[in-house]
Amino acid sequence: MDSNDSLTAGLDTAVQPTATAPAAPALPPASQAVSRRNFLLSAGAAGVAAPAFAAAAASVVSATQSRRNAGAAVPVSLNVNGQARQLSLDARTTLLDALRDHLQLTGSKKGCDHGQCGACTVLVGGVRVLSCLTLAVAVREPVATIEGLARADGTLHPMQQAFIDHDAFQCGYCTPGQIMSAVACVQEGKATDERQIREYMSGNLCRCAAYPHIVAAIVAAKSNMPSIS
Ligand code: FES
Ligand code: FES
Repeated sequence: MDSNDSLTAGLDTAVQPTATAPAAPALPPASQAVSRRNFLLSAGAAGVAAPAFAAAAASVVSATQSRRNAGAAVPVSLNVNGQARQLSLDARTTLLDALRDHLQLTGSKKGCDHGQCGACTVLVGGVRVLSCLTLAVAVREPVATIEGLARADGTLHPMQQAFIDHDAFQCGYCTPGQIMSAVACVQEGKATDERQIREYMSGNLCRCAAYPHIVAAIVAAKSNMPSIS
């Protein structure tokens, strides 16, 4: 043994496996290994997936049921211009469509059908509402439309007469909504001067731009207006 052999002899002995060392346990293939991480992930996924699946299934059933119910007719009771009216309507029917298509009260106009023009304005319980944005089934108070404004003998409401006297319309499409809104504007006490009238009538658009005449008509009518509801 030379000097190098004497230096490495002890090292060789140390790294050689001995006959009595315990054998390492055989590992399963990587594809079959169940690590703590994999176990927790799969257990968690199962725990999350089950309620999520149940919720999704319930949602589908609910949506399907809603679609079935959507077209179903429901009884609707309205009091329009002092008359009780019984209707059977799709629950999604707007008050405007109920008036125009089911009660043949076509005075209220459909301008935009989006709550932007005021052509569909009617009074519900004396308060002006956009009937295109109001569900008929939700209406509980009496409804007043342009058809109910004149007296039974044909005498026009002062606001109707004032619109004629002041030439407050051209094509007339916005006029029923303008008149209903003007009546409410006066009843609300929001017609004290022209500036206030313009402000509180600003939800009613007139493509013919008859605004100065509309304001003049409201000023003229407000002093001799009866109250309606
Ligand atoms: S039709 Fe209702 S606001 Fe235009
Ligand atoms: S009179 Fe024509 S839109 Fe008003």
